[in-house]
Formats: sequence, C-alpha cells, structure tokens
Amino acid sequence: MQVDQIEIEGLRLKVEQLTEQLMQYEKLASLGQLTAGVAHEINNPIGYVASNLVSLNEYTGNLMMLVQQISELLPIDQAHNLKQQYDFEYIKQDLPTLLAQSGDGLNRVIEIISDLKDFSHLDDAEFIEIDLHLGIHSTLNLIDNELKYRAEVQKVFSDLPLVRCVPSQVNQVLLNLLLNAAQASDTRGIITINTGSDEHWVWFSVKDNGSGIPQNKLEQIFQPFYTTKAKDQGMGLGLALSRKIIDKHLGVLEVISEPGIGSCFTVKLPIGNVSQHVIDDAT
Ligand SMILES: Nc1ncnc2c1ncn2[C@@H]1O[C@H](COP(=O)(O)OP(=O)(O)O)[C@@H](O)[C@H]1O
Ligand SMILES: [Mg+2]
Repeated sequence: MQVDQIEIEGLRLKVEQLTEQLMQYEKLASLGQLTAGVAHEINNPIGYVASNLVSLNEYTGNLMMLVQQISELLPIDQAHNLKQQYDFEYIKQDLPTLLAQSGDGLNRVIEIISDLKDFSHLDDAEFIEIDLHLGIHSTLNLIDNELKYRAEVQKVFSDLPLVRCVPSQVNQVLLNLLLNAAQASDTRGIITINTGSDEHWVWFSVKDNGSGIPQNKLEQIFQPFYTTKAKDQGMGLGLALSRKIIDKHLGVLEVISEPGIGSCFTVKLPIGNVSQHVIDDAT
C-alpha cells in the first residue's frame, strides 16, 4: 500500500514536470508566429523613419547653408557670438555623424527584420524550392550573438541545386543544431557548417569540437525530453523536433560523435519530387 503511494506520488511529480515542459514547448511553437507578426508590425514604422531620415539629411544640409549665409550678412563679432551661444561649430560637425549613425542603426534593424521574415517564412508554411544557403545566412545572422562568444563559425559551402522544403522548419532544425553545437563548446570552439549535394541529396552539416556524445547515448538524444543540460538551458526537445521535421521531409538526420573530440550532425534532404505532406504538426 505504502509502495503504491510512493509510486503514485512519483508519477504525479513526473506528470507535473512534463506538463510544465509541454507548456514551454507550446511557447516555442508560437515563437515563430510571434516573430513573424512582430517583424510585420515593425516594417511600417521603420518605413517612415527611413524615409524621414532621407529628408532630414537633405534639410540639415540646407539649414547649415542658410545659417552660414545669414551669418555672413552679420558683423563678424555678432555672428561669432551667436554661433558660440548655440554651439554651432560643434553641431555642424556632429550632425552628419549622428545622421549617419542613425542610418546605420536603421539599416541593421531592417536587416534583422528581413532575416526574421526569411527565418519564419510564415507566409508559406508549404513546400517551396529554395537555396539552402539563404536560410543558413539568415539563421546565422539571427543567432550571431548566441554564437560569437562561444565559437567561431566557419562556412564551407558548395554550389547547391534548389531543394524543396518548408524553409521555416528547415531553418528551425539548423537553429537547434547550431545552438547545441555552441552549448557543447566550453571554451572558444569552432563550428563548421558544410553544404553539398549529389544526385539524390542536398545536405548540410553542423560540426563542433565540443564535448561530444557517448556512443550509448547516440539514439537517446533524439528522444523527447532527453537532456543533459540545466533546466534553463534546455528541455530536450530540439533534436526530437528536428528529427520529426526532417522525417516529414523524407530526409535523414544523422550524427557521428566522439567524446572529447566533437560531434557532427548532418541533414540530408531529397532532391526531386517530395510529395506535399501536410506537415503543420511538425512545427
Ligand atoms: N553538438 C552536441 N554536442 C554534444 N552533445 C549534444 C550536441 N547536440 C545534442 N547533444 C546532446 O543531446 C541532448 C539533447 O539535445 P536537444 O534535443 O537539442 O535538447 P537540449 O539542447 O534542450 O538538451 C543534449 O542535452 C546533449 O546532451
Ligand atoms: Mg538543443
């Protein structure tokens, strides 16, 4: 009787834990939708800030000329005093820098939005033909900050034929693999992304020189909720989700790894006619 109760209590705790993890999973799934929505909303204000900045540049030039010409009509002393009073020389120097920096900042925001849109591709949650390299670039740009303190990313790209896939989902897989690779790198690691193709497959791989994975765990890592990370670092869903996505693409997700040396995850996607699966549930 007592053993039963202990067992029940254990199960109850497990259910609680799984429920909490599932809720986090839900959040993750809606993140793609959220980012696409935010990107869309930001586009409009960014548009007018960008066009205002162009006008501001032009008006500033005109105003500077005007001040210069008016000051030439004034007695030299008076012009000098007025300019000093309003810090004219400093403003004249600083304004172009401020405007240029604002322009750079804005361009960066525009880039991020475009990457977010490429990444989430919510407009087409269907198979389309894409160049995998575009997805790789936008994903790398998005998580640059996560990666750059842990590892250096090297790209070894081949010419690739277009491949039929759901871009948002393939990008999600790449994101998971890159984050895992970065998290496996304790000190400054090297992450290499290779791409290639043959007559049957287009593939990319993410290789790290991090901790590696013991041979007897190589299948387990694909099981949902298997994780060796602290609670706030991972919930053990990345690879399970990734394998599901790649299965639905009729592709292959495989790994080779050696403890102490590193790991290499390869994603192969078939060239040719992949039937149009309904793969909404893989997100
Ligand atoms: N590149 C890697 N190097 C070492 N271990 C890895 C790597 N990728 C995955 N793993 C192992 O597989 C486990 C499951 O990965 P994943 O499904 O992405 O979940 P999470 O990252 O949340 O733990 C990780 O906790 C880790 O033990
Ligand atoms: Mg992970």
